[in-house]
Amino acid sequence: MPKITISNANLEYICEDDTLARAALREGLGFPYECNVGSCGNCRFELQSGEVVHLRANPPGLNERDIARNRYLGCQAQPKGDCTIKVNLRDHYKSQHLPRKTEAELAGIDDLTHDIKEFRFNLKKSNLFLPGQYALLSLPGVEGARAYSMSNVTNLGDEWHFQIKRVPGGEATTSLFDKIKLGDTITIDGPYGMAYLREDAPRDILCLAGGSGLSPMISIARGAAASPALQGRNIEFIYGGRSPKDICGEGILSTLEGYGSRIHYHPAISMPEGAEGWTGHTGFVHDIAEMLFGANLPNFEVYFAGPPAMSQAVMKMLITAKVPVGQLHFDQFY
Ligand code: FES
Repeated sequence: MPKITISNANLEYICEDDTLARAALREGLGFPYECNVGSCGNCRFELQSGEVVHLRANPPGLNERDIARNRYLGCQAQPKGDCTIKVNLRDHYKSQHLPRKTEAELAGIDDLTHDIKEFRFNLKKSNLFLPGQYALLSLPGVEGARAYSMSNVTNLGDEWHFQIKRVPGGEATTSLFDKIKLGDTITIDGPYGMAYLREDAPRDILCLAGGSGLSPMISIARGAAASPALQGRNIEFIYGGRSPKDICGEGILSTLEGYGSRIHYHPAISMPEGAEGWTGHTGFVHDIAEMLFGANLPNFEVYFAGPPAMSQAVMKMLITAKVPVGQLHFDQFY
């Protein structure tokens, strides 16, 4: 069993059939990470002795300078024996609910739009998660695990739901949408992610979502609606798509206590041509947020998730609006 020594923290842990970052997180160590799929580069560490192999060839989170400095990605590196590494652990990355792998059976599927489905899995070994967190799904016929956010809130931790948008030609969503059947079993590893609901934040909540970003924002809204600490807080939810057929979420939010009084849903489409009868907003998610809340934006705790172009535009708008960075919560998957 490979032993990993973190030289600058004077710590050791075992990493067997796992990546260096995930094995550390399972032990309750604050190994830095974000995307868990080799994209963001947050999990870089320096290999001082020993040998590792990356799961993903040429991961985008590592550049030539990193390679020259003997740096690797914790979320991709598996040890070939004992290793000594240097990495700055931070409590921020410690998981309240330790991530673990378990088998999970597909127990339900529902259509939310023409290309978004909700997949409901029953875990063989239950585990809790915080609203807004994500899991790694290992799917049949798909190389490497894929990150998807949960849409529900856990009470017993035995059911994890995911709202996922089909990616045309995408290996993982083709497997989920076309191949996996009710009763089939996959492996789920989680929970992960730092973009979870802050119940101690004394502010109203703004959720901004597009595409599969619906899933973690629905979880945040559900968690906030149920949280005793957040009962006095408003929840503003903006969901954007291209046309009316892409829009969903109101049916779920309208079942929450406080919908219409302290919980408000603002749908938006970016391509209004041919959308006769549309009564929601027209524009991009970041523009609608700015139009609705303008100078009040710094008073919100903001959660956002969606395609890269949407997330980047939202981030730019929020920084320009002077929303403190500590009030912004998102996971970078790209
Ligand atoms: Fe490893 Fe993002 S590259 S967590």
